[in-house]
Amino acid sequence: MSQENLESVLQESRTFPPPREFSARAHIAGMDQYRRMYERSINDPEGFWAEAAEELHWFKRWDRVKDDSEKPFFKWFVGGKTNIAYNCIDRHLDDATANKAAIVWEGEPGEERVWTYRDLHRQVSRFANVLKQLGIRKGDSVAIYLPMIPELAAAVLACARIGAVHSVIFAGFSAESIRDRVIDANSKLVITGDGGWRRGKTLPLKDVVDEAVQGCDCVKNVLVVQRDPGQDPFPHQWTEGRDHWYHELAESVDRLCPCEEMDAEDMLFLLYTSGSTGKPKGIIHTTGGYMVYTYLTAKYVFDLKPEDVYWCTADVGWVTGHSYLLYGPLQNGATVVMYEGAPNWPDNARFWSIVEKHRVSVFYTAPTAIRAFMKWGDEWPQKHDLSSLRLLGTVGEPINPEAWMWYHTLIGGERCPIVDTWWQTETGGIMLTPLPGATPTKPGSATLPFFGVVPAVLDAEGNDARAGYLAIKEPWPGIFRGIYGDPQRYKDTYWCRWNGAYYFPGDGARVDEDGYFWIVGRVDDVVNVSGHRIGTAELESIYVEHPAVAESAVIGVPHEIKGQGLVAFVLLRGSTSDGSDDLRKELNELVVKKIGKFALPEKIIFSADLPKTRSGKIMRRLLRDIATGQALGNVTTLADPSVIESLKEKYSG
Ligand code: WTA
Repeated sequence: MSQENLESVLQESRTFPPPREFSARAHIAGMDQYRRMYERSINDPEGFWAEAAEELHWFKRWDRVKDDSEKPFFKWFVGGKTNIAYNCIDRHLDDATANKAAIVWEGEPGEERVWTYRDLHRQVSRFANVLKQLGIRKGDSVAIYLPMIPELAAAVLACARIGAVHSVIFAGFSAESIRDRVIDANSKLVITGDGGWRRGKTLPLKDVVDEAVQGCDCVKNVLVVQRDPGQDPFPHQWTEGRDHWYHELAESVDRLCPCEEMDAEDMLFLLYTSGSTGKPKGIIHTTGGYMVYTYLTAKYVFDLKPEDVYWCTADVGWVTGHSYLLYGPLQNGATVVMYEGAPNWPDNARFWSIVEKHRVSVFYTAPTAIRAFMKWGDEWPQKHDLSSLRLLGTVGEPINPEAWMWYHTLIGGERCPIVDTWWQTETGGIMLTPLPGATPTKPGSATLPFFGVVPAVLDAEGNDARAGYLAIKEPWPGIFRGIYGDPQRYKDTYWCRWNGAYYFPGDGARVDEDGYFWIVGRVDDVVNVSGHRIGTAELESIYVEHPAVAESAVIGVPHEIKGQGLVAFVLLRGSTSDGSDDLRKELNELVVKKIGKFALPEKIIFSADLPKTRSGKIMRRLLRDIATGQALGNVTTLADPSVIESLKEKYSG
């Protein structure tokens, strides 16, 4: 969060109680009810979570709700057997939900497809049988690299149905990023598509996958979903024997596929995310705890009712798309809107035209999108009838009060509560959030904990503080079960601070006199660019691969739309400090090749030197001060103070 945002948040004193009409119909109708349920969830977590789990289907009931005997390796619903796809689909087939829309999809060019729950059952069963035909069994890992088309939902749920571990890779990642993830997860199959649409252009996904799987011995097959069956496919290469068209295999498989009975602690998925080292981590989520947690958070935070039309704008490639586009709302039997493309295609009103057309009632998006809409102007939402909306949400980064107020006024018509939800890939589901019928909101605050969550703000020594590090005390069902293949890194990164007594999420926070939490941003070397986590160490290790580069330091700087942008300071080999535009281009190409376009920095500053301590450590804090034009902090430990002046000149020049 920028200094400016931080200051505006610090001065924020407006409070917005939930509208009376909203509370009257809400699952959680007021603060008394919230407090009562919260107390219960803390004093009797096993009773509380057992009751939540009982709302879902289990093939066999659990023996124990929670097992924390091997802390920090937690288990939930020990001994229980279930299947999350069953709870997303089959559970709804016996009642009126069966024939209601499960997924309402809109392609960027404007096509529309609607799958009822019954259709979803058929689609997922068929997809699951195709996976089986390709030799995929329970426990196998499957990489999914698809555009936002309904088959992406079918692929994910099909894996869950047969107990295969899905590893969804956001369709903006490069071939090398896919390869790293495929190898780390030992994926046997990659599911991709012949293309998808983004801002009027097609995404050449199959080409990227072809490059990615070269040299991946683990990959036996590539399954290709055609975006527009019955028409000519997008241009693509084909490797006989390895590549298979999904629609061809789907013709001949059985229409029914029973759900695999999964142990509550069987792995459900891996999702890779950036950390403070160069290597992305495979976050492990298992079946039972994640299932119950996403179910209950979706139910209460989005106050889901049978008649709701719910739209989460996140891509399934990120955790928000997993938990709150698919698993959470589908377990609740909601109608989910899924949109393939860009928010500003063909014009800046696209989101609002979707809201109007599908009568969206609950809308969940990211602050970066809200800020972009603010910049594009009020006329775009004003062209559309947004009266169907009753609840708004945000996620991914701190929302500045100005953006919150714009959202409240222009999109919410001052009648919709806003839920600012703080959580992470690691937490599985929402942790800090208002409950829309109960919690008075303050613009910029994620307010209070969800049931079962015990947050704190601590200083480095573990004392309670008004401002400091966010920490979580008790385990909750949705907590990740570790980093794939690296239990030590799991302990070191998340449990080492404060002697293992708290989970350390890596965020800074403040708590106010009402006990409300205000998230300030990351305190580790992770930068949140448009809500996407990018590890600065990942970029730094990419730059030093270039022969002209000796060293680099990447920092996050405030950005008007993206929240944070990246700035790279690059130290060249030899005595030169002048990088050419060609070199800048080459470095950018490297980042695109190794990660993807979304990780490009705003600026590259070439330099003959970097500010270092006498022991040779780069002082990133000073680089941040330079980039934000602030008075420099303590420079007494600097080996050569003259570096600073020349960097300042370069930065502004
Ligand atoms: C940030 C996304 C402030 C935070 C669900 C966290 C937020 C990181 C909020 C996780 C919020 C997410 N307010 N900051 N409401 N929500 N963050 O894993 O820094 O992609 O640690 O999960 O996003 O990002 P991730």
